[in-house]
Amino acid sequence: MPDAPDDLMPLRAKRAERVAEDIQLFELAHVDGAALPPFTPGAHILVKTPSQLVRRYSLANAPDEREHYVIAVKREAAGEGGSVSLVDGTKPGDTIEVSAPRNDFELAGNPASYLFIAGGIGITPIRSMIRHLRNTGGKPFKLYYLSRTPAQTAFREEFTAPEYRGKAIVHHDMGDLDHSLDLWPVLEKPRGMHLYCCGPRGLMEAVRDMTGHWSRAAVHFEDFGAGKAAHAADDKPFTVRLAKRGDRVEIPADKSMLETLRAHGLVIPSSCESGTCGSCRVGLLAGEPEHRDLVLSDAERAREVIVCVSRAHSPELTLDL
Ligand code: FES
Repeated sequence: MPDAPDDLMPLRAKRAERVAEDIQLFELAHVDGAALPPFTPGAHILVKTPSQLVRRYSLANAPDEREHYVIAVKREAAGEGGSVSLVDGTKPGDTIEVSAPRNDFELAGNPASYLFIAGGIGITPIRSMIRHLRNTGGKPFKLYYLSRTPAQTAFREEFTAPEYRGKAIVHHDMGDLDHSLDLWPVLEKPRGMHLYCCGPRGLMEAVRDMTGHWSRAAVHFEDFGAGKAAHAADDKPFTVRLAKRGDRVEIPADKSMLETLRAHGLVIPSSCESGTCGSCRVGLLAGEPEHRDLVLSDAERAREVIVCVSRAHSPELTLDL
């Protein structure tokens, strides 16, 4: 769970309405309608929920709409209560505290075109990107938007409208894996594209596996369930040997390497803390990591490890720290 930053700003919920099954859209603005801090497509904000938990939500509107931020919140009934309190406890006119936007999922490089793959509520940052490209006459794009059922698909009418014909494929598997869309024909040839994928971990791992032959610089992931990749019920403790500092640190089963090493005085940069941005990569000198990130290539995995999410198969890892 992200920490609450010190500089949250109070915004008014101009709109709070259901846009799909268990998905609530919020339009947030200054009370006086003043312009909000700028953002770029793919950005997110931190939101302090009525239950006081801080949650991260991608902005779904175009960056040139400075008068409001749009977020779509999936009500996670089995979660810790943050999204449930936000959806159930916020009505139009209420005040919500949010951070300034930041972006770990920038539209980067100068590709021939963009390929977007969204799973479920992962459509939100991609909607911002698409609206930006359309508003600015940017590069061509194609969207594959995967969800379980039409009723669970936020912005379904928007992306099935005639203006998106040939540009957006909206596919429902109806909860049956046999009806999943086969993405291999889409991903087999990179064709100078940049790929942006946001959705459930399983979808992103499948896309990562199918894009091993792409340039890593052309493949971008955003994990809206920040932190989930870092912990699993059967995680085991292991030891990290710090080659430069010359001591060892025990990593508990319920703590990441990043948080444990920081608690032992090491300064390690981070941003997404969900294994998608690459900013916490550390040199690997010995041991067998259990790589859980979505950024390192196979070659990089032999010599680096992403310490916000990855763990160890061997009892000890030696890091270049
Ligand atoms: S902080 Fe982004 S990959 Fe670790």
